[in-house]
Amino acid sequence: MTKKIILDLDTGVDDALALAYSVATPKAELIGVLASYGNVLTEKSAENSLSLLELLNQTNIPVFLGEKHSSTTDNFEVMEISQKIHGKNGVGNVNLTQAKRQPEKMSAVDFIIDAAHKYKDDLILIPTGPQTNLDAAIKKDPSITKLIKKVCFMGGALTVPGNVTAFTEANISQDPVAADNVCHSGIPLTMVGLDVTLRTLLTKNETKKWRNLNNNVATTYADITDYYIDAYYELNINKNGCALHDPLTVAIALDPSHVQFTALNLKVTHDDKDNPSDIGRTIGDLDNLTKPTNTRVAINLDANYYLNDFMDTLTTLFKKF
Ligand code: RIB
Ligand code: CA
Repeated sequence: MTKKIILDLDTGVDDALALAYSVATPKAELIGVLASYGNVLTEKSAENSLSLLELLNQTNIPVFLGEKHSSTTDNFEVMEISQKIHGKNGVGNVNLTQAKRQPEKMSAVDFIIDAAHKYKDDLILIPTGPQTNLDAAIKKDPSITKLIKKVCFMGGALTVPGNVTAFTEANISQDPVAADNVCHSGIPLTMVGLDVTLRTLLTKNETKKWRNLNNNVATTYADITDYYIDAYYELNINKNGCALHDPLTVAIALDPSHVQFTALNLKVTHDDKDNPSDIGRTIGDLDNLTKPTNTRVAINLDANYYLNDFMDTLTTLFKKF
């Protein structure tokens, strides 16, 4: 059976690229998109995903509203740095046409639970924002930890510095407690962190190929992505292109053949006893280091293989318009 994937997005620029990759790839069927807070507020994430799906002519894929803030807070404000990297509206300040559809009535949490029971081994859950929705689903129905056989998440940094603090990556830093619960849930996990995403860079040479297709969809995606490439340059994050964090995570979930992994029981630091600059760090769990693990961390990859796959998949999609 074709694998069913669920994306859990905080729909910023690289989430938008992950969405296009997921609707285009023949390797899986995208059955739903969850909205999370992070690069934008949860409502805006859903609005962006709905607009992008309409742009891509995929109005049959449902979008579900997720949690609005972390499991340990009661509100959320978008970080200034996220607004600079993704634009105030999350999609590079490009004006997308508002979708005719609304998010589904069912919550993201209930959709995860339903899909886990329905699709079991055939389901892959791909969070590319905070892990608050998955953690809430596990709390509501712990039996899903035995049903879900693959969660491939974008987040964390094991062998490289973080992008929020010296140790902490943005998605994990939004809700370290939720991420730590997921790490200890027993669900088989694949971590796609900054270790590999910062090696997979897209430049304006690539977005120019989309511009040359001369259609609205390709140009809109080029505009959104060029904003992100410029932000990387101006903020001195990387002068050589933008990181394909979220689309790479989907690609690795569906084809891990060109990735080197290390098997490791993970934890996320979040206790008061931890150093504040250390909170939200993904690191080996000392208490469980010698125990068997079903968690693996991507630590190196053939970046050209994934860049070519990404460009082939998106360019084939954009040519259809
Ligand atoms: O640290 C990178 C991650 O944070 C990406 O998923 C990006 O979209 C933001 O959510
Ligand atoms: Ca994201």
